[in-house]
Amino acid sequence: MNGPKVVEPISELRSMLDEARGNGRRIGFVPTMGFLHEGHASLMRRARAENDLVLVSIFVNPLQFGPSEDFEAYPRDFEEDLALCEAESVDLVFHPPVEEMYPEPTTLTVTVGPIGEVLEGKTRPGHFDGVATVVSKLFNIAGPCRAYFGEKDAQQLVVIRRLARQLDFPVEVIGCPTVREPDGLAMSSRNTYLKGEDRVAAAVLKRALDEGARLVGAGHGSADAISQAMARVIGEEPIAKLDYAACVDPDTLAEPAEGGGPILLAVAAWVGKARLIDNVTVSPAPDSGARTGTPKAGASIRKG
Ligand code: PAJ
Repeated sequence: MNGPKVVEPISELRSMLDEARGNGRRIGFVPTMGFLHEGHASLMRRARAENDLVLVSIFVNPLQFGPSEDFEAYPRDFEEDLALCEAESVDLVFHPPVEEMYPEPTTLTVTVGPIGEVLEGKTRPGHFDGVATVVSKLFNIAGPCRAYFGEKDAQQLVVIRRLARQLDFPVEVIGCPTVREPDGLAMSSRNTYLKGEDRVAAAVLKRALDEGARLVGAGHGSADAISQAMARVIGEEPIAKLDYAACVDPDTLAEPAEGGGPILLAVAAWVGKARLIDNVTVSPAPDSGARTGTPKAGASIRKG
């Protein structure tokens, strides 16, 4: 096998993609920050199956990390990443240095508004503006394509769908299911921070979501009660420190609307050095209390 072609300059990538499109080839794009795992590989496989040319970007975007977050420490292993891309028959790997993406101080950014201020956005102010800015740049660089994102980052997917729609990017955004370890832990580059008992404790996020899903499916309790039940499960794991447990509408991230549509259950917790997030989308029982209950101040429990 030849392996993917690695491209660093934006101009070079643009002309290769323009030429491919000129030859009628459809482009599938998988944006990542590297330290690739099976979750990323699942997006590449979907892109491979649905397109003629598969582009993966590997860029740890400084703009989406807060000042006290792990930008410097974020795990990186470009050689391993390339091997995974090769195994998934990726054609192009866009791997720009920071100076290529941000050659001058970034004074102009995308603002996502209130949707970026709830859930993750409360703990990570400015995070989604940073994501939306880099994804806008990546979409502008890639041009017309299908772009694949994981449901693992549910709020990010909501933000990016809005971004593509509201700013008219010629990009079809496609969401892909979360890939998990055998004990339920959602795969994540940050799982590398989890050692020993922390790794075992990390499975509590999925257990909390399972309990929430059980209650939603059975029509038990208001959105608030379901959030509290998930928070309780996480509270039972001494190593885990809850950030939030929420039961919200998957499109608006606000309180679930009346009418029996799907519900997004989302949790975030610190386990050892890692801050972990996970979510599932579930359909309530036809006459569910999750719809008719009266959640107090939004259907989300927050600690710490
Ligand atoms: P990163 O965390 O590397 O994730 C890249 C893509 O892989 C995202 O769409 C994410 O949702 C998806 N992904 C991660 N873990 C997954 C899993 N277990 N199952 C399925 N998909 C999974 O998300 C980012 O990078 C960045 O914010 C980015 C969009 C690249 C902008 O910088």
